[in-house]
Amino acid sequence: MKYTIQSIIDAQAVLLEKFEGLEDKAEILRAVELKALYDELKTLPADQRAGFGQEVNGLKTELQDMVAAAANEEQALPAIDVTAPFDANLAAVDRPALLPAENGSLHPLMRELETILDIFYRMGFTAIESREIDDDFHMFGALNFAEGHPARDDYDTFMTTQTDKDGSPLIAPAHTSSMQNRVLLTERHRLDEGRPIAAVIPGRVFRNEDLDARHEHTFYQLEGIYVDKGVTTGQLIATLKTFLQTYYGKELETKTQPFYFPFTEPSFEFALSCPFCDKRGCHICSQSGWIELLGCGLIHPSVLRAAGIDPNTYTGFAWGSGIERLVMMKHGIEDVRNFESGKLEFLRQFV
Ligand code: DAH
Repeated sequence: MKYTIQSIIDAQAVLLEKFEGLEDKAEILRAVELKALYDELKTLPADQRAGFGQEVNGLKTELQDMVAAAANEEQALPAIDVTAPFDANLAAVDRPALLPAENGSLHPLMRELETILDIFYRMGFTAIESREIDDDFHMFGALNFAEGHPARDDYDTFMTTQTDKDGSPLIAPAHTSSMQNRVLLTERHRLDEGRPIAAVIPGRVFRNEDLDARHEHTFYQLEGIYVDKGVTTGQLIATLKTFLQTYYGKELETKTQPFYFPFTEPSFEFALSCPFCDKRGCHICSQSGWIELLGCGLIHPSVLRAAGIDPNTYTGFAWGSGIERLVMMKHGIEDVRNFESGKLEFLRQFV
């Protein structure tokens, strides 16, 4: 409504400005400026009252509409945060209880990873983090997987629509071995300095899996690489055994059997006596007393060569192990899906 009477035009300007600053918008309807206009109305000669009254009422309606609009806005539901672990529109009392916020808490896997890395630090290894997007060369080519080799099928993973410079899709890495070439390249100066390459590479990996108590599409691995002159399988087994006995805090038996990986030669599957039941047989080891834990072997000459390391001078060993597996055996966790579930009943046990 357009106002023509000066005192109403003035009052409108004041009221609009006041409205902006009000926390409780409804207070504008009780503003002295509005009340003053109604008081003025009563004092007016009869012939002016109708026109004045119409404009005052118009102003009041305008203010009422503004109050209603503001209330609507306030009531509108907050935007849904799809990353929230619960429906953000729930009243505070209905939300699931959270872990103690004053301390925060590490995810059990990250806490165990710290313990694991500490053991390797004491053994002279350095830690280098893996990555969550990688390319075909690092996933396969640098690891001696021939083009179209069926062994590639074991590493089916998630792909992006983006491609690398050769037109292959960028992928979520299916193992931490995709870091081997990078780590060999950045660390190989150590060999020239007469020191070994000794690195562990923790990382999140992804597989196209049918999910069950032992299989997740997203999990963690710990890769290990050691390169020096004259490295042997005996050193590989001793390193793994020392780590595992320290982690589980007990004597363990280990055994290896031949296996195939394109990036190691010879390759082994490494098993250890079940640290949960000490070989008596339990649900963790499927009553067998043994756990097939990880893949390992001596680094294939082609892998060393791809990183500019002369395989006639240097040899090395490598392994790759699922981290969840290690932790499940330590704590008797039966279902790998607990780790990524975000279930508080599960997480609270490790606070
Ligand atoms: N990358 C293999 C996998 O995820 C595990 C593995 C085997 C890693 C042998 C290694 C290795 O470094 O030498 O199945």
